[in-house]
Amino acid sequence: MSSDGTKRNTPNVSINGKRLHNSLMQLASIGATERGGVCRLALTDLDRKARDLVVTWAQEAGMSVTVDAIGNIFMRREGERPSLPPIACGSHIDTQPTGGKFDGNYGVLAGLEVVRTLNDAGITTQAPLEVIVWTNEEGSRFVPVMMGSGVFAGAFSLESAYGAKDLHGASVRDELERIGYLGASPCGIHPLGAYFEAHIEQGPVLEDAGITIGAVTGVLGLRWYNCVVTGMEAHAGPTPMPRRKDALQASLRIMSETVAIAHRFAPHGRGTVGFVQVFPNSRNVIPGRVQFSIDLRHYDEAQLDAMERELHSCINVVRSDHGVSIALEQVSNVPACHFDAECIKSVERGAQAYGYAWMPAVSGAGHDAVYTARVTPTGMIFVPCKDGISHNEIEDAKPEDLEAGCNVLLAAMLDRAHAG
Ligand code: GLV
Ligand code: MN
Ligand code: MN
Repeated sequence: MSSDGTKRNTPNVSINGKRLHNSLMQLASIGATERGGVCRLALTDLDRKARDLVVTWAQEAGMSVTVDAIGNIFMRREGERPSLPPIACGSHIDTQPTGGKFDGNYGVLAGLEVVRTLNDAGITTQAPLEVIVWTNEEGSRFVPVMMGSGVFAGAFSLESAYGAKDLHGASVRDELERIGYLGASPCGIHPLGAYFEAHIEQGPVLEDAGITIGAVTGVLGLRWYNCVVTGMEAHAGPTPMPRRKDALQASLRIMSETVAIAHRFAPHGRGTVGFVQVFPNSRNVIPGRVQFSIDLRHYDEAQLDAMERELHSCINVVRSDHGVSIALEQVSNVPACHFDAECIKSVERGAQAYGYAWMPAVSGAGHDAVYTARVTPTGMIFVPCKDGISHNEIEDAKPEDLEAGCNVLLAAMLDRAHAG
C-alpha cells in the first residue's frame, strides 16, 4: 500500500538477484585491477569491449539497439503502444582510474535485469522500455563530467563535447569513431516518458541508518574549475627564498583554502583538488607552473555562489602575496537538481511494495539523471555501499541490496509504463 493509500501496479514478479550479480561480475572483469576494482576510462578499447558485451546481452534479451552521435546507447524493449515515449533507465559503464565494480555499471545492468525478468514472466508494458548507457559520465579522461547525458539534454553542444581532449591530445570525436560508437542518430531528439537511475549511494547515510533503499530527492550542485598558476622556474640552490615565484607554494594555499571553504559551508559543502600537474616536475627546479582541478559542491546554489566568491578572494590574495599569475576557468557548472515528485513517489511505492525499508536521500555525487531531469520526469534509487566508499577499487555492495534496488527499479518502471 502506498503512502497515499492506493495500490498501483504492484508487481507480482521479482528480479533474479543471482543473474544480476553474475552480470556485474562479468562486466567488472573488463578492465579488472589487481586490487579488485575496475579501470575502464571512457572511449578506450576497454570501454568498447564493455559496450560490446552489454549490447550483446541486450540483443540476446530481444532488444533493439541504437547509438547516437555522442555514443549514448539506447537499448529498447518494445511496448504494446510503440508510439508512447519509452520509460527509460540506465547509467554509465566508464569508470574512474581506480574505480569500483558498481558505480554506473549497476544502473545499466539493473535495467537489463528488469528486461530479462519481464521476458521470463511474459509481461508486456504499454509504453516501450529503454535501458541507456550514457557516454563519459565520470569526466576523468574527458571534461565535462556527464558528457553524454549533458549533450542529450542540451546543456552543452555536441561540437564542444567532440572537441574535448584527453591528456595525450586524443579527442572525443576521434575516440568515438575509433571504438565504433560514433552513432548515426542525432543526439537529443529522442523522447523519454520518464527516467529512473539505480545507483549505489557512494556515501555512508543508508548504511549508517540500516536502510535498504534511498528515494533520491535531488543532487548537490557541482562546479569544476581548471586553475593554472604561473610563477618562474629557477634553481633550487642559489635562488634566495624571498626572490622566488614558486607556483607550487602559491597553489598549495589555494588547494588548502578549497578544502577549508567546504568545511566552512558544512554540512553540504564539498571541496576537492584531485588532479595536479607540476612543471617541470624536477627536484632541483622551483616549480614554474602548476595546473590543478577544483571541485566545489553544495545543495544550495546561493551557498555555492558564496563558496565561489571565497575562492576568488583567496586567489586574489595569493596572486599578490606570491607575485604569480593565476587563471581560473570554470569547466563544468551543474546546478543542484530536485527530482520529479511523481517519480520519487514511484520509487517509494516500489520500496513499499517489496517491503524494503526506505528513506529520502540526497546525492552528493553527480549522475546522468541530473541532466535527464531537464528533459523528462526523473527519479533515482540508491542502495547502500560498504562503508560509504566509492571511486575506490574496494567499492562494494551487498548482493541482497543490489537485488532490492533492482526490484524497486522494476516496480517504478512498471508504475510509469502501465503494465499490460
Ligand atoms: C561523478 O561521478 C561525480 O563527480 O559526481
Ligand atoms: Mn556513477
Ligand atoms: Mn563515478
